[in-house]
Amino acid sequence: MASPVLSALFAAVSLLLSQSAAQNVSTFTNPIIPGFHPDPTCTFVPELNSTFFCTFSSFLTFPGLPIVASRDLVNWKHISNALSRPEQLPALAFLPRGATSGIYAPTLRYRDGTFYILSTLANQALYPTNYTKWDNFIVTSTDPYTSSSWSNPIHFDFPGIDPSPFWDDDGDGQAHIQGSIDGKSILQTQIDLKTGEITGPLVAIWNGTGLPSPEAPHMYKKDGWYYLLTAEGGTRERHRANMARSRNLYGPYEGAPANPLLSGYLTQSYFQAVGHADIFPDSQGNFWAIALAVRAAYSYNFDPYNSIFPMGPATLPAQGEGYSPSGDDSINFEPGSKLPPHLFHWRLPVIKNYAISPAGDGNFDRTNSLMLRSSVLNLTAYDADSTRGRGQTFLARKQAHSRFRYSVDVSWAGLTRLENEVGVSALQDQAQHFDLGIVMLPSSQNRTDLEPHLRFRGISTSTYRLPERFKYVDKATPFSSAMKDASKLRLQIEALNTTHYAFSAGCVNNEDADADVEMAVFGYAKGQNLIPYYSGVVVGVYATSNGKYGEGAFTTYVSRWRYTGLEQISEFPEAQGPVVWD
Ligand SMILES: *[C@@H]1O[C@H](CO)[C@@H](O)[C@H](O)[C@H]1NC(C)=O
Ligand SMILES: *[C@@H]1O[C@H](CO)[C@@H](O)[C@H](O)[C@H]1NC(C)=O
Ligand SMILES: *[C@@H]1O[C@H](CO)[C@@H](O)[C@H](O)[C@H]1NC(C)=O
Ligand SMILES: *[C@@H]1O[C@H](CO)[C@@H](O)[C@H](O)[C@H]1NC(C)=O
Ligand SMILES: *[C@@H]1O[C@H](CO)[C@@H](O)[C@H](O)[C@H]1NC(C)=O
Ligand SMILES: *[C@@H]1O[C@H](CO)[C@@H](O)[C@H](O)[C@H]1NC(C)=O
Ligand SMILES: *[C@@H]1O[C@H](CO)[C@@H](O)[C@H](O)[C@H]1NC(C)=O
Repeated sequence: MASPVLSALFAAVSLLLSQSAAQNVSTFTNPIIPGFHPDPTCTFVPELNSTFFCTFSSFLTFPGLPIVASRDLVNWKHISNALSRPEQLPALAFLPRGATSGIYAPTLRYRDGTFYILSTLANQALYPTNYTKWDNFIVTSTDPYTSSSWSNPIHFDFPGIDPSPFWDDDGDGQAHIQGSIDGKSILQTQIDLKTGEITGPLVAIWNGTGLPSPEAPHMYKKDGWYYLLTAEGGTRERHRANMARSRNLYGPYEGAPANPLLSGYLTQSYFQAVGHADIFPDSQGNFWAIALAVRAAYSYNFDPYNSIFPMGPATLPAQGEGYSPSGDDSINFEPGSKLPPHLFHWRLPVIKNYAISPAGDGNFDRTNSLMLRSSVLNLTAYDADSTRGRGQTFLARKQAHSRFRYSVDVSWAGLTRLENEVGVSALQDQAQHFDLGIVMLPSSQNRTDLEPHLRFRGISTSTYRLPERFKYVDKATPFSSAMKDASKLRLQIEALNTTHYAFSAGCVNNEDADADVEMAVFGYAKGQNLIPYYSGVVVGVYATSNGKYGEGAFTTYVSRWRYTGLEQISEFPEAQGPVVWD
């Protein structure tokens, strides 16, 4: 099935690199791309300055299909997003199911000057037997450094997921695709990548080694052998990379005696769920494998739904729109600037709900701020599942470090009516998020008056942990008089350690935005309550009227967006002991 990867409490999903031969990269530390970056796929392009290009599953995030590039496999730059225009995939707005629908398992390849991405827009609300559940598509670019260069999708009929193109070396240019169907088989057929027309029969070429869910196929040819790499075992504890080979492209394939080639199952490795790999060469003729993993712990082998997955810059390409996916943020929303490409929305945004440094009105200086116009829907939306095509005002980035600190300064003057709310969230999906918001609620002194409160509110419902479904926290504290007098409040989320996030607030009184602000904690969220299915934790800002009044009920302004990575943990801290769910 698809392509999941998880990520984790403190952080996320990550990529592992492993090497097959002696090579020239002196050292590297896994994960090479930390945080919510599942289902990696990479290609090496000698004629573009010997650069490695990769992309990942992006599920419900928009922009989607982030493209990162590196010259040394150690230092990476986010260079563009292959999906950056809502009209490329309008259906993204309507998808249900937290973060298990959306953009699945892409494959990135380069041929004759063109980059190809084949991927699937998955709608998990439809039955698996209804193949419209899997909207397979191709996007192309001749300039991967520019988001706008990526084409509109060409849709093609394929009754499964994880499509991957392969061109044989016989010179006829015919593209073949492999994909995964019904969690049972790897299918292969021929395709015209220009039109999306399927031009051959669907052939089941490999059923895997007997474990569930043979998927994530990629085909390679070397020394007259066709090598079929797959993932198997499901995307959690038994996830692995297996290989099969044949002298003929359409089989029969035989499994490698050394399978699984990569797996964390039943090992003491901090990296678990290892699988969904891709293989590519470098300029020295070495082969490299990249795979997804989660930073979990040994208990993940037995109890993956209750484990904590706490969760590794240079010769970068000069071109491209963004910066390192494991870098810090210091974003001031300067007039004329654009949002960097690693910030995203949840499903498609309502564009007019966001503006950078909009013109002030004389009374209020909006320079260096991001305007947020509220949505009716909060981050839970209708049912912690769908938004039925409506937008949620939300801008976020990925948690990329085991420990990090994220904050924004919020000017809340626009909040006037009951349940007007602006805040920061640590979100896994609509059913699992924790928010610290400034919200208008009845005054404790006089119930007919409204006054601003700091509200720590969270929801964690999980179909994987039925006994613990529907955990909520909801605690509102009226503003102190210092808060009422402050021009702005700083709202902050910090991953304190491998188990807890702290949500805090403080008064910003100083004109010097970099002056220290005294912060007080208003709530803690546990990593176990942000369990990933396929994606990873993101942090960001939201503005909502919580179901009331209509769209755009108020506008509010946030400024000084900061994210600082504090620590990457790549080994299970012994002292932490076994994970106990409470
Ligand atoms: C290894 O990299 C260095 C530069 O970092 C380069 O000078 C050298 O030629 C490379 N070695 C090989 C075998 O390519
Ligand atoms: C190769 O790198 C150089 C230096 O960064 C740059 O000027 C040039 O445009 C690059 N060429 C290509 C084809 O990317
Ligand atoms: C499959 O789903 C589509 C919606 O994408 C729906 O229109 C169609 O009726 C469904 N087909 C079946 C056989 O359920
Ligand atoms: C895969 O399994 C199906 C159903 O059991 C069987 O019909 C088919 O021959 C198998 N294919 C291969 C390539 O082993
Ligand atoms: C409560 O506030 C309302 C509106 O501001 C005011 O009319 C009313 O007198 C207040 N009640 C008390 C008990 O202070
Ligand atoms: C993490 O921090 C929280 C809050 O201070 C504390 O309760 C918890 O025990 C800490 N966990 C670890 C593993 O140190
Ligand atoms: C979200 O908004 C709905 C109304 O649309 C409201 O019923 C619900 O309490 C809110 N909950 C959370 C956790 O955001």
